[in-house]
Amino acid sequence: MFFSDKKLVLAPMAGVTDTVFRRICKEQGADIVVSEMVSAEGLIYCSEVTEKLMLFDVSERPIGIQLFGSDPDHMARAAKLTYDKVRPDFIDINAGCPVAKVVKKNGGSGLLKNHDLFCRIVGKVAESVPVPVTVKIRSGWRMNEWVDVQFAASAWQCGAAAVTLHPRSQSMGFSGHSFWERITEVKKAVPIPVIGNGDIVSSEDALEMLRITGCDSVMIGREAFGNPWIFAQIKSALKSECGPIVTPEMKVDLAQEHVIRFKEMYGERFAYREMKRHVSRYIKGLSGASALRDRIFRAESTDQLLTVLKQILEMAR
Ligand SMILES: Cc1cc2nc3c(=O)[nH]c(=O)nc-3n(C[C@H](O)[C@H](O)[C@H](O)COP(=O)(O)O)c2cc1C
Repeated sequence: MFFSDKKLVLAPMAGVTDTVFRRICKEQGADIVVSEMVSAEGLIYCSEVTEKLMLFDVSERPIGIQLFGSDPDHMARAAKLTYDKVRPDFIDINAGCPVAKVVKKNGGSGLLKNHDLFCRIVGKVAESVPVPVTVKIRSGWRMNEWVDVQFAASAWQCGAAAVTLHPRSQSMGFSGHSFWERITEVKKAVPIPVIGNGDIVSSEDALEMLRITGCDSVMIGREAFGNPWIFAQIKSALKSECGPIVTPEMKVDLAQEHVIRFKEMYGERFAYREMKRHVSRYIKGLSGASALRDRIFRAESTDQLLTVLKQILEMAR
């Protein structure tokens, strides 16, 4: 299974980890990537927007397509549709999303309140496709009422090939800190690979999570947004080598390349709007960047974004 042996996994992040960004992370050393979450209902009802979310390039393999939903038959049908259409390397089930519009329909971390439904979904999805099925969970619905060990063990018994744990409760959203000791508990409880996730912002954090929890692989989310070099840095640290030192030139170059590649993929209108968030993450911390941040958000074309980036580099030098 590709999750064993300290693999570096790019976390699924809706609105962030599209195919262009995933390819960039792969180029910077991510071993495995996962799509943004895809609605099972959207796939079944042939939503064009939803279908686009599961397109990927062969260079992204191994890639998982993540599905969310709460109807076991629909989830299984959506998994089969996904497999038939794009042949991903694995299907990931979202049992961690805390967002209200997802959990109120029992999807995402809403599944953590319904053990029986969770088991039926994992079982049916695992039966429906010939590729591994993985599950991404949070530690529980409420703080200190942890169900992660129970749900990870059930996922395994129902056919999951690996489990990712983001050890926060649904109620925490992204606040506070993740409870890495929960990853240790889950790792002790299941024989399948465990991917640890939550608050890794440096190569030291990644090594520390691997060391103290015994998890098989680590998943990085928010830190990769604007800093895809985190993967190369962790890769080097795993070999006790020094990783790349990221210069202002590297940040601006990659931000510009990202804008250009995004525009080629999606066209000008979508690109200049969507890339503002990415660009502002790339330039975080560069001297003079905060003065120009406002111009990024007021840009009305990708050309304007590229011009602001050029000015930021001049100021940062
Ligand atoms: C903007 C954003 C979008 C996210 N979208 C998803 C998603 O689609 N599916 C999912 O399982 N988790 C999603 N997450 C959660 C991340 O995958 C990850 O579990 C979380 O950010 C903790 O990891 P980190 O501390 O490395 O960021 C999202 C997180 C963020 C910040």
